[in-house]
Amino acid sequence: MTQDELKVMVAKEALQYIPRQGILGVGSGSTVEKFIEQIKLNGVRVEAAVSSSERTTALLKAQGIRVLDPNTCEPYAVYIDGADEVNDRLQLIKGGGACLTREKILTSMAEKFICIVDRSKLVTTLGKFPLPVEVIPMGREQVARQLRRLGGEPVLRAGCITDNGCEILDVHGLRIEDPLTLEQQINAIPGVVTVGLFAHKGADLVLYATDEGVRHKERV
Ligand code: A5P
Repeated sequence: MTQDELKVMVAKEALQYIPRQGILGVGSGSTVEKFIEQIKLNGVRVEAAVSSSERTTALLKAQGIRVLDPNTCEPYAVYIDGADEVNDRLQLIKGGGACLTREKILTSMAEKFICIVDRSKLVTTLGKFPLPVEVIPMGREQVARQLRRLGGEPVLRAGCITDNGCEILDVHGLRIEDPLTLEQQINAIPGVVTVGLFAHKGADLVLYATDEGVRHKERV
């Protein structure tokens, strides 16, 4: 099966987790875009949504789904999003699409974070995928120095300004043995808006597509 077919498969599987009432949190990326397509193709009703990017907001609105400002919402039941890497403890690297800050905010508001990926995203140790760090532009070089001290090689993502008007440093060469500590260390650097390590609050359930079907891995 192609990667695209696997993404469609996992997107369909995720439909059953859409709450019948209330708000659905929707992330960003190509897997989530398949999920939004499947909502339409299967005529699933979504009462209202909160979204992690301008692009997702536009796609949801194009389907007639009401998109709310998270500032006007209470914490909600389910957030569905993809990931760039997933380890056995359901800790994640996210931010390949530069939407990590809004994704982290929506994750923190959700009772359950359901992560949808294809099998290529599963890893033993996080870090092969360059770790995205959103930074305040005037502090970029100072943040980069400190990331080097932590053992990584930050590279400015060319031509990328986030929905929050910030920049992204992609940190190469990390082998993340202790995601909880590294998340804290990077969060503490002045000028960092968000690090794309989702370790303190990772996924609660990962659905991953394989050639043999969709498998479920739940946080224990
Ligand atoms: C967006 O910023 C990301 O966190 C995405 O969830 C992640 O990059 C996965 O995207 P794909 O579904 O396109 O692989």
